[in-house]
Amino acid sequence: MALALTWITGSSAFAASKKKPSPTPKKKVVEKKPTPTPKTSVKPSPSPDPTASEKPTPSPSASEKQSGLSLLQYQEGDSGPVKTVGEEQLSSGESLRAFYQVSSGSAKIPILLHRKSTGDFLAFTAVCTHQGCIINDVTPKTFDCACHGSSYDSNTGVPSALSPAKRPLTQYPVVAKNGSLFLQHA
Ligand code: FES
Repeated sequence: MALALTWITGSSAFAASKKKPSPTPKKKVVEKKPTPTPKTSVKPSPSPDPTASEKPTPSPSASEKQSGLSLLQYQEGDSGPVKTVGEEQLSSGESLRAFYQVSSGSAKIPILLHRKSTGDFLAFTAVCTHQGCIINDVTPKTFDCACHGSSYDSNTGVPSALSPAKRPLTQYPVVAKNGSLFLQHA
Protein backbone atom coordinates (compact mmCIF):
# COMPACT_ATOMS: atom_id res chain seq x y z
CA MET A 1 0.00 0.00 0.00
CA ALA A 2 2.78 2.28 0.81
CA LEU A 3 4.46 1.50 -2.51
CA ALA A 4 1.39 2.25 -4.62
CA LEU A 5 1.05 5.56 -2.96
CA THR A 6 4.68 6.30 -3.73
CA TRP A 7 4.23 5.54 -7.38
CA ILE A 8 1.23 7.72 -7.79
CA THR A 9 3.02 10.52 -6.16
CA GLY A 10 6.12 9.96 -8.31
CA SER A 11 4.16 9.81 -11.53
CA SER A 12 2.25 12.94 -10.77
CA ALA A 13 5.52 14.56 -9.94
CA PHE A 14 6.88 13.41 -13.28
CA ALA A 15 3.87 14.71 -15.12
CA ALA A 16 4.23 18.02 -13.38
CA SER A 17 7.90 18.26 -14.31
CA LYS A 18 7.08 17.56 -17.94
CA LYS A 19 4.71 20.50 -18.12
CA LYS A 20 6.22 23.25 -20.11
CA PRO A 21 6.16 26.48 -18.38
CA SER A 22 3.56 28.60 -19.97
CA PRO A 23 5.18 31.47 -21.69
CA THR A 24 4.52 34.81 -20.23
CA PRO A 25 2.12 36.52 -22.52
CA LYS A 26 3.73 39.21 -24.41
CA LYS A 27 2.34 42.47 -23.51
CA LYS A 28 1.01 44.38 -26.39
CA VAL A 29 2.69 47.65 -26.50
CA VAL A 30 0.19 50.14 -27.57
CA GLU A 31 1.80 53.27 -28.65
CA LYS A 32 -0.12 56.09 -27.29
CA LYS A 33 -0.34 58.99 -29.53
CA PRO A 34 0.18 62.12 -27.61
CA THR A 35 -3.06 63.95 -27.20
CA PRO A 36 -2.69 67.31 -28.79
CA THR A 37 -3.03 70.00 -26.22
CA PRO A 38 -5.68 72.46 -27.21
CA LYS A 39 -4.33 75.75 -28.18
CA THR A 40 -5.32 78.33 -25.69
CA SER A 41 -5.44 81.80 -26.87
CA VAL A 42 -3.79 83.97 -24.31
CA LYS A 43 -5.33 87.29 -24.25
CA PRO A 44 -2.83 90.01 -23.60
CA SER A 45 -3.52 91.57 -20.26
CA PRO A 46 -4.41 95.19 -20.61
CA SER A 47 -1.63 97.53 -19.80
CA PRO A 48 -2.06 99.08 -16.39
CA ASP A 49 -3.78 102.38 -16.29
CA PRO A 50 -1.15 104.90 -15.28
CA THR A 51 -3.76 106.85 -13.40
CA ALA A 52 -5.01 103.80 -11.54
CA SER A 53 -2.90 104.52 -8.49
CA GLU A 54 -4.43 107.91 -8.17
CA LYS A 55 -7.29 108.28 -5.84
CA PRO A 56 -10.48 108.36 -7.87
CA THR A 57 -12.56 111.47 -7.49
CA PRO A 58 -15.89 110.42 -6.00
CA SER A 59 -18.88 112.26 -7.31
CA PRO A 60 -21.26 113.62 -4.71
CA SER A 61 -24.21 111.35 -4.04
CA ALA A 62 -27.81 112.49 -4.31
CA SER A 63 -28.14 112.72 -0.53
CA GLU A 64 -25.05 114.90 -0.38
CA LYS A 65 -26.51 117.24 -2.99
CA GLN A 66 -29.76 117.41 -1.04
CA SER A 67 -28.00 118.28 2.16
CA GLY A 68 -25.94 120.97 0.39
CA LEU A 69 -22.65 119.13 0.65
CA SER A 70 -20.17 119.59 -2.16
CA LEU A 71 -16.92 117.71 -2.49
CA LEU A 72 -13.87 119.94 -2.15
CA GLN A 73 -11.30 119.52 -4.87
CA TYR A 74 -8.11 121.21 -5.95
CA GLN A 75 -5.91 121.37 -9.01
CA GLU A 76 -2.14 121.44 -9.12
CA GLY A 77 -1.22 124.32 -11.42
CA ASP A 78 -3.59 125.52 -14.10
CA SER A 79 -3.71 122.27 -16.05
CA GLY A 80 -2.73 119.64 -13.49
CA PRO A 81 -4.96 116.75 -12.47
CA VAL A 82 -7.99 117.53 -10.33
CA LYS A 83 -7.77 115.84 -6.93
CA THR A 84 -10.02 115.44 -3.96
CA VAL A 85 -9.06 117.39 -0.86
CA GLY A 86 -8.41 114.75 1.75
CA GLU A 87 -8.20 115.36 5.47
CA GLU A 88 -4.49 114.58 5.30
CA GLN A 89 -4.03 117.25 2.62
CA LEU A 90 -3.72 120.05 5.12
CA SER A 91 -1.61 119.99 8.25
CA SER A 92 -2.46 122.34 11.09
CA GLY A 93 -1.68 125.93 10.15
CA GLU A 94 -1.71 125.29 6.38
CA SER A 95 -3.95 126.86 3.73
CA LEU A 96 -5.06 125.70 0.30
CA ARG A 97 -6.88 127.17 -2.67
CA ALA A 98 -9.62 124.72 -3.64
CA PHE A 99 -12.99 124.66 -5.38
CA TYR A 100 -16.29 122.87 -5.42
CA GLN A 101 -18.99 122.22 -7.99
CA VAL A 102 -22.69 122.16 -7.20
CA SER A 103 -23.18 119.46 -9.85
CA SER A 104 -20.82 117.67 -12.21
CA GLY A 105 -19.95 119.89 -15.16
CA SER A 106 -21.08 123.06 -13.40
CA ALA A 107 -18.76 126.01 -12.75
CA LYS A 108 -15.88 125.57 -10.35
CA ILE A 109 -16.48 127.84 -7.37
CA PRO A 110 -13.21 128.89 -5.73
CA ILE A 111 -12.78 128.39 -2.00
CA LEU A 112 -9.99 129.21 0.43
CA LEU A 113 -9.26 126.47 2.96
CA HIS A 114 -7.35 126.70 6.19
CA ARG A 115 -6.69 124.18 8.95
CA LYS A 116 -6.52 125.65 12.39
CA SER A 117 -3.99 124.64 15.01
CA THR A 118 -6.85 122.75 16.70
CA GLY A 119 -7.19 120.57 13.56
CA ASP A 120 -10.54 122.10 12.51
CA PHE A 121 -11.05 123.09 8.88
CA LEU A 122 -12.24 126.51 7.77
CA ALA A 123 -13.55 127.42 4.33
CA PHE A 124 -14.01 130.95 3.01
CA THR A 125 -15.30 132.29 -0.25
CA ALA A 126 -12.45 133.41 -2.52
CA VAL A 127 -14.41 136.49 -3.64
CA CYS A 128 -12.82 139.62 -2.22
CA THR A 129 -15.29 141.80 -0.32
CA HIS A 130 -13.68 144.95 -1.73
CA GLN A 131 -14.59 144.84 -5.42
CA GLY A 132 -15.12 141.16 -6.06
CA CYS A 133 -11.74 140.00 -7.40
CA ILE A 134 -10.92 136.32 -6.91
CA ILE A 135 -8.29 135.83 -4.23
CA ASN A 136 -5.51 133.59 -5.48
CA ASP A 137 -2.63 134.22 -3.10
CA VAL A 138 -2.83 131.88 -0.15
CA THR A 139 -0.31 131.70 2.69
CA PRO A 140 -0.57 129.88 6.03
CA LYS A 141 -1.53 133.14 7.78
CA THR A 142 -3.24 135.30 5.14
CA PHE A 143 -5.35 135.29 1.99
CA ASP A 144 -4.17 138.15 -0.22
CA CYS A 145 -6.07 139.85 -3.02
CA ALA A 146 -3.81 141.00 -5.82
CA CYS A 147 -6.25 143.61 -7.17
CA HIS A 148 -5.87 146.34 -4.52
CA GLY A 149 -3.90 144.68 -1.76
CA SER A 150 -6.52 143.47 0.71
CA SER A 151 -5.17 140.90 3.14
CA TYR A 152 -7.43 138.61 5.16
CA ASP A 153 -6.55 136.61 8.26
CA SER A 154 -6.74 132.90 7.30
CA ASN A 155 -8.03 131.99 10.79
CA THR A 156 -10.94 134.43 10.78
CA GLY A 157 -11.40 135.82 7.22
CA VAL A 158 -11.21 139.35 8.66
CA PRO A 159 -9.33 141.91 6.51
CA SER A 160 -6.32 143.71 7.98
CA ALA A 161 -6.80 147.32 9.09
CA LEU A 162 -4.87 148.64 6.08
CA SER A 163 -6.89 146.69 3.52
CA PRO A 164 -9.31 148.51 1.24
CA ALA A 165 -11.74 145.64 1.99
CA LYS A 166 -13.68 146.29 5.21
CA ARG A 167 -15.90 143.22 5.45
CA PRO A 168 -14.79 139.69 6.31
CA LEU A 169 -14.93 136.84 3.84
CA THR A 170 -18.05 134.68 3.97
CA GLN A 171 -17.32 131.47 5.86
CA TYR A 172 -18.78 128.00 5.18
CA PRO A 173 -18.83 124.90 7.39
CA VAL A 174 -16.57 122.03 6.32
CA VAL A 175 -17.63 118.41 6.85
CA ALA A 176 -15.12 115.55 6.85
CA LYS A 177 -16.56 112.28 5.50
CA ASN A 178 -14.65 109.09 4.74
CA GLY A 179 -11.38 111.01 4.62
CA SER A 180 -12.64 113.63 2.13
CA LEU A 181 -13.70 117.19 2.83
CA PHE A 182 -17.08 118.62 1.85
CA LEU A 183 -18.31 122.15 1.89
CA GLN A 184 -21.74 122.73 3.38
CA HIS A 185 -23.66 125.43 1.61
CA ALA A 186 -27.29 126.53 1.31
FE1 FES B 1 -9.70 142.75 -3.66
FE2 FES B 1 -9.91 145.27 -4.29
S1 FES B 1 -10.97 143.60 -5.09
S2 FES B 1 -8.60 144.36 -2.88
